[in-house]
Amino acid sequence: MRIAAILVAAGSGSRFGADTPKQFLTLAGQPVIRHAAQALAAHVTHLQPVGDAAAIDAALAGIGHLPTVPGGATRQDSVRAGLEALAPHAPDIVLVHDAARPFIPPGTIPALIEALRHHPGAIPAQPVADTLKQARDGVIARTVPRDGLFRAQTPQAFRFDALLAAHRAGIQGATDDASLLEAAGESVAIVPGAEDNIKLTYPEDLARLERAMTARMIPRVGTGFDVHALVPGRPLMLCGIAVPHDKGLAGHSDADVGIHALCDAIYGALAEGDIGRHFPPSEAAWKDADSARFLRHAAGRIAARGGAARRKASVRRQKSCGMIRPSAGLLKPRRI
Ligand code: CTP
Ligand code: MG
Repeated sequence: MRIAAILVAAGSGSRFGADTPKQFLTLAGQPVIRHAAQALAAHVTHLQPVGDAAAIDAALAGIGHLPTVPGGATRQDSVRAGLEALAPHAPDIVLVHDAARPFIPPGTIPALIEALRHHPGAIPAQPVADTLKQARDGVIARTVPRDGLFRAQTPQAFRFDALLAAHRAGIQGATDDASLLEAAGESVAIVPGAEDNIKLTYPEDLARLERAMTARMIPRVGTGFDVHALVPGRPLMLCGIAVPHDKGLAGHSDADVGIHALCDAIYGALAEGDIGRHFPPSEAAWKDADSARFLRHAAGRIAARGGAARRKASVRRQKSCGMIRPSAGLLKPRRI
């Protein structure tokens, strides 16, 4: 079965009000849109991003996706652009998801796909808990019964042909995709949504999301230090910067003590030994090597373990903090 996902990211985030559109802001160590893409990528054969190609492709580096297509003036137009781009791939199912929703609970997509066995559309939604008032000029006109009322979330799932036909029917003003199927008289099922599936809309949502996402992670802290002798005739590299000096640090690689200390802090936080284990001084390949590649490797190990580096990481304090999802498990410390 071919399952595609459209990730709409062409909005400007006017209510959020940041210089950068909200879907590209950093949350729990990576761009908001990247969290959403990772969650979708595990379930789909085709991932279709919609929006600014340069920004999206940079944020999704390493995650396989179809060529990004430009969005439209409204969310509905952006979804339509994604559907038309997917049409030649003839998927059976399409998920439509807001790039501004970084947290898709693990059970949501399987529940949606299961519901599509009986309905052409399915969405996650939460029952309304508060009493609802309709007001005019600051005065309540009436109380709206909340029985049977739900708050719609994404990803929303559809049989591809049904959603494409509903979009091509020309109805305007839809704020989600289910409403287009509803207008066409098709049945759309509801599966349980989640309070943590928050759409980043206002600045205060960022802190709520940060709390929701990091609550599932275990903080890991590492420390590192490094010592090299200053000798004549070597460049002095400190934290990736060539410092003009009449001496440099002796060592097998470029001997950048700042980066080496940071690498050791990261490897230590992961209980994965130290820099000498990953890049032994006995190997000619690391002779005069740029230590930045060691740091890229260490950062890659955080990602490979399902973690995210927090901004608190600081070379100056020779200390780094990693966050690991519990599912990654705790490693036993190794003797090195
Ligand atoms: N979106 C889109 N194309 C548009 C408008 C919105 O792809 N023309 C996307 C947004 O990037 C977001 C999702 O649709 O991922 C949900 O929209 P919303 O939360 O309204 O985002 P913005 O439109 O960016 O925010 P605002 O309405 O505050 O300007
Ligand atoms: Mg909008």
